[in-house]
Amino acid sequence: MVDAERFIPEAIAEITRLSQGEKVVMALSGGVDSSVCAALATRAIGDRLVSIYVDTGLMRKGETERIRHLFGGVNLKIVNAKDEFFAALKGITDPEEKRKVIGEKFIRIFEREARKTGSRHLLQGTIYPDRIESEGGIKSHHNVGGMPLHMEFASVIEPIRDLYKDEVRVVAGALGLPREIQHRMPFPGPGLAVRVVGEVTPDRIDVVREANAVVEEELVEKYIPWQCFAAIVGQGTGVKGDIRVHGWIVAVRAVNSRDGMTADPMELPFALLLRIASRITADIPSVARVVYDITPKPPATIEYE
Ligand code: XMP
Repeated sequence: MVDAERFIPEAIAEITRLSQGEKVVMALSGGVDSSVCAALATRAIGDRLVSIYVDTGLMRKGETERIRHLFGGVNLKIVNAKDEFFAALKGITDPEEKRKVIGEKFIRIFEREARKTGSRHLLQGTIYPDRIESEGGIKSHHNVGGMPLHMEFASVIEPIRDLYKDEVRVVAGALGLPREIQHRMPFPGPGLAVRVVGEVTPDRIDVVREANAVVEEELVEKYIPWQCFAAIVGQGTGVKGDIRVHGWIVAVRAVNSRDGMTADPMELPFALLLRIASRITADIPSVARVVYDITPKPPATIEYE
């Protein structure tokens, strides 16, 4: 386990040294990894850090407002890129291609904005499991990390590259970041797009965003899952009112894990699962049924794509 009291000054010194007194740019997602990096860099170089948040349209409910609220005082640029992402995703059904398209788009938009800042240094919140999963070719994680930028940077600074997720949380606590950030569940770089099996459209993202919000509301505080969410996994028949409808099948997933490399499904009370199913089908007219995923990782992954 990391010794935060030792790690923090070392990371600050590294950022100070590599930035050479110049501006540093980073992608801020609001997750614990990028928030820890932003906090370390702010301590190291103050407002020479320029943070960019790309609103992909694939974020959770209320996320952009949350970022604005949490990091509004920081040198932060919020980029609205929803239309660009949905246009790029049109017609794409293959999971790996979806990830590549999102990763590529993200990088190009980030580059475009980073260029405007005139910074020669890039800060990234890559953590240890990102590196090994990408190197092992399991999935093309797109944490900006591991993706080729066309821009030449004088340095790429990755202060938390050797840490596991639980260690990042320890550092977040030692840095005094809000509990909400410290204990935030991991969220995949490609966002809600990997929670829609098949083509991503604005309508489908709206469905999965609402379902996801219900799952988080019911589970996060009371059951403290390592990660929980909803995904659209297909279509099936249901009856709503007296009418047979062909609607979405929403899968609910709640897992415990140490680092995301393996995971176990949580044993949740049946009454709670029934309530989640009833809320999701009542709140979202186009959902016909809700299932609970009981597959560990392996053989399943945590996300659906
Ligand atoms: P899987 O689905 O591979 O996910 O079992 C393991 C953990 O990683 C998260 N995840 C990602 N994180 N960029 C990320 O930063 C990504 O592209 C990505 N894909 C999955 C996932 O939510 C889980 O916590």
